[in-house]
Amino acid sequence: QGSDRIEALIARMTPADKAGQLSCFSDQIRPIGLPFNPGLPARNDATAQLARIRTGAIGMLFNGVGYAGAKAAQDAAMQTRLKIPLIFAGDVIHGLRTAYPLPIAEACAFDPDLAQRTARAAAVETTALGMHWTFAPMVDVARDQRWGRVAEGSGEDVYLGTQLAVARVRGFQGRSLRAPDSLAACAKHFAAYGAVSGGMDYNYTEISPQTLREVHLAPFKACVDAGVATIMSSFNDVNGVPASGNRWLLTDLLRGEWGFRGMVVGDYTADEELVAHGYAADGRDAAKKAFLAGMDMSMASDLFNRWLPDLVEKGEVPVARLDEAVRRVLQLKDAIGLLDDPYRSISAKAERTQVSTPSMLKLSREAGARSIVLLRNEGDLLPLKADPGRIALIGPFGEDRDNVVGTWAFMADAKLNVSVAQGLRNRKLAVDVVKGSEVEAPIAGGIDAAVAAARGADIVLLALGETQLMSGEAQSRTEIVIPEAQMALAEAVAATGKPIVVLLRHGRALALHGAVKDAPAILATWFLGSESGNAIADVLFGDVNPSAKLSASFPRESGQQPYFYNHKNTGRPAPDTGSQEYKARYRETKNEALYPFGHGLSYTRFALSNIVVPPRMTDRIEVTVTVTNTGTRAGAEVVQLYIHDRVASRTRPVRELKGFARVDLKPGESKPVRFTLTRDDLRFWGEDGWVIEPGAFDLWVATDATGGERHGFELV
Ligand code: IFM
Repeated sequence: QGSDRIEALIARMTPADKAGQLSCFSDQIRPIGLPFNPGLPARNDATAQLARIRTGAIGMLFNGVGYAGAKAAQDAAMQTRLKIPLIFAGDVIHGLRTAYPLPIAEACAFDPDLAQRTARAAAVETTALGMHWTFAPMVDVARDQRWGRVAEGSGEDVYLGTQLAVARVRGFQGRSLRAPDSLAACAKHFAAYGAVSGGMDYNYTEISPQTLREVHLAPFKACVDAGVATIMSSFNDVNGVPASGNRWLLTDLLRGEWGFRGMVVGDYTADEELVAHGYAADGRDAAKKAFLAGMDMSMASDLFNRWLPDLVEKGEVPVARLDEAVRRVLQLKDAIGLLDDPYRSISAKAERTQVSTPSMLKLSREAGARSIVLLRNEGDLLPLKADPGRIALIGPFGEDRDNVVGTWAFMADAKLNVSVAQGLRNRKLAVDVVKGSEVEAPIAGGIDAAVAAARGADIVLLALGETQLMSGEAQSRTEIVIPEAQMALAEAVAATGKPIVVLLRHGRALALHGAVKDAPAILATWFLGSESGNAIADVLFGDVNPSAKLSASFPRESGQQPYFYNHKNTGRPAPDTGSQEYKARYRETKNEALYPFGHGLSYTRFALSNIVVPPRMTDRIEVTVTVTNTGTRAGAEVVQLYIHDRVASRTRPVRELKGFARVDLKPGESKPVRFTLTRDDLRFWGEDGWVIEPGAFDLWVATDATGGERHGFELV
């Protein structure tokens, strides 16, 4: 019935009506500084925007929030000849009004269930605010911390990233897209955007078929298999063909090989950018190439409205392709129930009652605390005692409430943001707060004031790092370090000899140096969302025992980027001991990470014992291990299983994560953990496709990507 209705609608549409359905714009409609759309209304001109909706030139609006705007826009759509409802979308990457931890942070919880729960809560809130579709999850595997957009993904590992991608799709989409609180998901950015050269945003990607398949495409395939409704094509050039004009990616692979039936939206003006890439001659050519490659909906450039009718009339684009794309858009609208109820998710009551609810804030706090990684804790400085004496909170992020949620949460309700200082005050603690330095510039007299505060304190909390604008889109860095002004502050404060806990604020893994690196206790607190300060206090005082593990390796130096644990061995691997001459290494630093992927301490201790690895695999093996909490506090350990294929027809990474398990343990308690490893876990991309080759494999059960005892098995 749905499909009859859609076909009947298509039959009544002109090419211009069809192009309108394939065009989407941000709430402000007019993109910034781009040449091909002079006819669009000015930014923030609501009257002009509604008038344009009434012409039928808009199929979707994004990044407008709330009942009133959505109602007015949908009323305008209902005044068009065909009365096809608009779909409303938004960049709900880690929450909308209530912000949850930045994805790279939340990934540190190694907990797909948590990711699913925050995505679900975000869906409930987002649909209450009139939206139907989110441009999330961002599933790009990112192995270069210079790239600002590492913040939006799940870190450097494909296995962890894939588990979390699928969990988020499930969380957003719920049990059925039609449910009023379900949010259609969009796996982005297809593809290999996470591998841009030099970590510079928007740069080209040169990548082998093996790495493309095994690493960068894998999370997308998993999202397709999990029923993701839409996919966003990316900005970057992939091996010479920009992704948004790449027929192999958008059609042959996605549709032909993977059987994806949903809709492909191009990233913001990505079609138009084919001109700057040197892949299209002008706007018309760009529209044609993007559309024929497989982009169904054009974002912000207006090129589809402008050129598709003409391209169809001149026979350069088949009507069948136009209808196919329109069908996909209408199918999405039908799947979420808009064709039956154009006002689905547009409710003044929901906006009042389902936004920033106590349970959402509670979840934000829980997720925040579970995303904090305890990098170092010399002499068990942490947790602090309930009455820790005088606390000096020093650094630009003490009172700061503007850099709490992180990138891509620009619709978050800033009133909710809890600073570190507030989190401490909420525990009735007196805190001496001194800024000491701006993020990137010294403050006159700032260091003196900070040193005086440190001298008078029993414990110093140093809140240092990056602003939320230093990561995210277009925020690549050459040096992934704490800015100089803050380092000078840290050195001066450390010279007082007071015990220091560093509270890092960051949207990427950093290269730590000097007084920050040497501080006895370091917490990686990333950007934790609305409840940030409370979550940090929960961990500082031990109400929550940290259990997170790094989703991205902390290198020693910026120049090691791209740095990731699952690299190849080279023909001359540098040995741990003995001469390193003529070995694969840098002159200035050791190869191993300062803190590797998977690293994270706890306030208790854990031991792994009784590791049993069957010697031979035919179809699968069960690997078992006992985890014991040998300390005095309850806590959780994330047990990780890594493998390495010793000899293969394609060189293989030194280690690859193939399983993990979070285990909660009381003091003294032991629990068995069982991992199932199958033949498919051992496959790789060979000369002609996926292959599984018999032979010897190494296996580690460990608590980070470099530890554990080496075991082995044979695949027969
Ligand atoms: O969803 C985003 C994308 O990640 C980057 N460009 C803009 C899109 C819409 O806001």
